[in-house]
Amino acid sequence: MSSNDLIVSLDIGTSKIRVIIGEISNGAINIIGVGSSDSEGIRKGAIVDIDQTVQSIRNAVDHAERMVGITIDEVYVGIAGNHIALQTNHGVVAVSNEDREIGQEDIERVMQAARVVALPPEREIINLVPKQFLVDGLGDIQDPRGMIGVRLEVECTIITGTKAAVHNLMRCVEKAGLRISGIILMSLASGMMALSKDEKIMGTVLADIGAGATTLAVFEGGSLAAVSTLPIGGDYVTSDICYGLKTQTEHAEKIKLKFGCARAMDAAEDVKFKVTRVGTNVEKEFSQADLANIIEPRMQEIFQMIRQEVKRLGYLDKINGYVLTGGSVSMAGVLPLAQTELESSVRIAVPDYIGVRDPSFSSGVGMIQYVTKYLRNRGAAPGKRPVKAKTAAASGSSSKPGLKEWFKNLFKEFI
Ligand SMILES: Nc1ncnc2c1ncn2[C@@H]1O[C@H](COP(=O)(O)OP(=O)(O)OP(=O)(O)O)[C@@H](O)[C@H]1O
Ligand SMILES: [Mg+2]
Repeated sequence: MSSNDLIVSLDIGTSKIRVIIGEISNGAINIIGVGSSDSEGIRKGAIVDIDQTVQSIRNAVDHAERMVGITIDEVYVGIAGNHIALQTNHGVVAVSNEDREIGQEDIERVMQAARVVALPPEREIINLVPKQFLVDGLGDIQDPRGMIGVRLEVECTIITGTKAAVHNLMRCVEKAGLRISGIILMSLASGMMALSKDEKIMGTVLADIGAGATTLAVFEGGSLAAVSTLPIGGDYVTSDICYGLKTQTEHAEKIKLKFGCARAMDAAEDVKFKVTRVGTNVEKEFSQADLANIIEPRMQEIFQMIRQEVKRLGYLDKINGYVLTGGSVSMAGVLPLAQTELESSVRIAVPDYIGVRDPSFSSGVGMIQYVTKYLRNRGAAPGKRPVKAKTAAASGSSSKPGLKEWFKNLFKEFI
């Protein structure tokens, strides 16, 4: 199997690290392998311990390698977190060609022009996403190559992150012995997996409710308009169960996965389970309804916080619905509860591929789709980054892109 046909994504989450191997044949994606490991060293979606994170990445990669029988040495890495910010910018250039036909070079120049923006010293650009091109003032053009014009403009969304967070992420992946093919904003990737074109145009909030964080991405007018991360997720639900049933975290988590229900009215009184309580050997019996009474207020709070945040971002009246994803939406009763709390149309998005039909795989699968659609065909990677020479030597790589190459690739994104 040629490694060119394989795309590997890496999602470093608070509860799990997930590696997904996608095989591309004739433009179609097959998910041929998945590896996961319990995540150590991540709190609320942020890396807090490099060595533990490196080990967890290694475990997940080893798991995926064993499943497929290949060696993984290059991955696309997902990024998220409250350090992410969006801004828009505009670039203008004169078409260079004598016959005024717009070519790849013009696109690269106009993207470079759009990239020139004053950023605080602690931030850097992660992805540059063109919203539309304009040729001699005519807008809404997605691919201007081959068109005739004098003036080429682009309107871009610039995705930035703090240098420290990007550095820590890259450091962990490189220390795990992997080359970075590109860094992708996970909201962009999940949006591609989960939302239809119309949903993106009409205004939709994609909420990824994970273990330690809930990531919101507002899509409007066809593109990503706002992102935000709330430091709350399934771990809070587990913690409430710990206190409510007076049991240990690992028991609480297991009970949540097996019997959890987000709405008390849907929970059964006659479904019972026994819990070993902290500090004793005595087991106590509870019903699913008891459990739901603990879970429901926390899930309500999460949805109220989502709604509040959408309001704070100024999109409450502009959106037409919510799409939920992330591991925590697997729980029974989440959908009707969300519909009530969010007072809007809501659906749950799950990747439609064998082996990954679970909302916790949305970001990882989305990254593979994103790379397949926008990058592989053009031979470029978004946010493809220079890798330090020292690390390059350590991992035995000679094919890492230089800074110039990285910029060049960055501009090809979406084209
Ligand atoms: N069937 C289920 N019922 C209830 N909760 C579930 C279920 N399956 C997974 N979860 C919860 O989903 C959460 C994990 O989701 P996910 O894998 O999307 O998070 P993550 O990516 O590791 O973390 P984050 O995105 O917050 O950094 C955990 O809190 C887990 O308990
Ligand atoms: Mg996640």
